[in-house]
Amino acid sequence: MSQRSFAVAWTGASGAVYGLRLVEALSDAGHQVHLMISEPARRVLLHEEGMKVADPPDLGSMFEHPARIHYHHSKAVEAAPASGSADIEAVILCPCSMGTLGRVAHGYSSGLIERAADVALKEGRKLILVPRETPLSLIHLENMSALARAGAILLPAMPGFYHRPESMEDLVRFVVAKILHRLGVETSWHKAWTGPEPDWEEART
Ligand SMILES: Cc1cc2nc3c(=O)[nH]c(=O)nc-3n(C[C@H](O)[C@H](O)[C@H](O)COP(=O)(O)O)c2cc1C
Repeated sequence: MSQRSFAVAWTGASGAVYGLRLVEALSDAGHQVHLMISEPARRVLLHEEGMKVADPPDLGSMFEHPARIHYHHSKAVEAAPASGSADIEAVILCPCSMGTLGRVAHGYSSGLIERAADVALKEGRKLILVPRETPLSLIHLENMSALARAGAILLPAMPGFYHRPESMEDLVRFVVAKILHRLGVETSWHKAWTGPEPDWEEART
């Protein structure tokens, strides 16, 4: 297995668990992860997961492979993800708030997270945004549309139900598997749809 390098930002949208699972999955798969956390993301982590994430975080207590995770403060614009020459294959904003999404859509690189995304777009690195908001305003939609035109992948935190999830964890894994699939990272969480169950036609009638 060859080791790859990714940058992941947790921002202040709901769904902190998606970001946690993504970093776990990438580091468990043997890859290096540059981790950035916005200040609002820390608040959401506390609300949703009861996790008080220090600055810098105690990676050893959070992850099984802390040596593979490189934390950068969200204002550290001199950190590796800010540079086009860094050995970083893709940048993933997960979850992605509408605030961060709007700033990236307008090239407003006020901190490391927006800068990393901006660099990904200019360097042709893969940029995946995992927005979560509902309902969506025209401003949100136009910002997403601008990003899609610029080459970003908009992968909203919208779990599907056709695999018949049995738990919240199944729903979380559904979304994270979609991200891993787009990154070409193998995972048992991704289940290719091969058509309906054999009893489907019967149930329909
Ligand atoms: C508990 C909680 C849940 C939130 N959920 C969302 C959300 O789902 N989507 C969103 O765009 N903003 C959400 N917000 C608001 C953002 O955190 C806020 O706009 C913040 O300024 C975004 O900053 P950031 O983009 O730098 O992380 C939430 C805030 C809190 C405290």
